[in-house]
Amino acid sequence: MSTLLTVRNLWVTHPGDQGDFVAVRNVSFSLGRERLGIVGESGSGKSTTGRAIMGLVGALGRVQAEELRLGETDLLALSERGFRKLRGRRVAMVLQDPKYALNPVMSIGHQIAETHRAHMRAGSRAARLAALKMLEAVRIRDPERVYGLYPHQVSGGMGQRAMIAMMLIAEPELLIADEPTSALDATIQTQVLAILDELVRVRGMGLMLISHNLHLVSAFCDRVLVMYAGRVVEACDSGRLHQAQHPYTRGLLAALPELGHRRDILPQLQRDPAWAAGA
Ligand SMILES: Nc1ncnc2c1ncn2[C@@H]1O[C@H](COP(=O)(O)OP(=O)(O)OP(=O)(O)O)[C@@H](O)[C@H]1O
Ligand SMILES: [Mg+2]
Repeated sequence: MSTLLTVRNLWVTHPGDQGDFVAVRNVSFSLGRERLGIVGESGSGKSTTGRAIMGLVGALGRVQAEELRLGETDLLALSERGFRKLRGRRVAMVLQDPKYALNPVMSIGHQIAETHRAHMRAGSRAARLAALKMLEAVRIRDPERVYGLYPHQVSGGMGQRAMIAMMLIAEPELLIADEPTSALDATIQTQVLAILDELVRVRGMGLMLISHNLHLVSAFCDRVLVMYAGRVVEACDSGRLHQAQHPYTRGLLAALPELGHRRDILPQLQRDPAWAAGA
């Protein structure tokens, strides 16, 4: 399988009043045209890893790595201008919260059409048709009506799907989906995952699916990375997750509810400071 993304020994540091804060440390993985899940508790560095690949860690954040490569492109050597060309077209990120990704003063359909025009150099009529088709593809029931609505006029789940439509319309090689289905109910969640799945299988897109939901990730993805305190503590095929070795992963697995099993006492995850030190 051809490698789309190579991340070797990635570190992301943010300066703070009490010294530097290391959000991501020594993270290495590669991604082909497959579905890679990243799980881990809040603050473990999942989104920061995605943002580092997009060149979006912020003006003060520092990204260091031995290698950070998208296909032939060396992301470590890329200027802000280079990243702007890359973003959207070659790698896109569905952000955790659509409120920050959608423009509040432009209608939903218009923003999707504009994205299409900017990246595909299409005319306005073709862009409108492509946007309507994409709204339909993300299972928005009345695309013509939703096209003209502003972000504050749609529900959270519709906003999330509109953002997914915007990110997919330029047909990126790599999609980083950060909790893309967290505001959706179970049926629509399944539909959105089916769309992402089809893009991976049919178009050969690479997908990084960031989630705190171990069940979802292990059922949907080919491989899973488990992060803890900025590190990858476990990397394995989804099918082998039950054989995971790291005590944090074992703790997560033990805490998953099982249908048909009643538990009187919920297991508590016991953390060991040595995990953060890389043990
Ligand atoms: N710009 C920043 N400045 C300072 N610290 C930051 C910045 N961005 C992220 N961090 C810190 O880095 C750590 C990792 O954050 P990140 O957003 O990657 O976590 P996450 O795993 O995505 O969590 P969640 O599941 O809550 O989304 C957190 O402790 C966060 O406070
Ligand atoms: Mg996050």
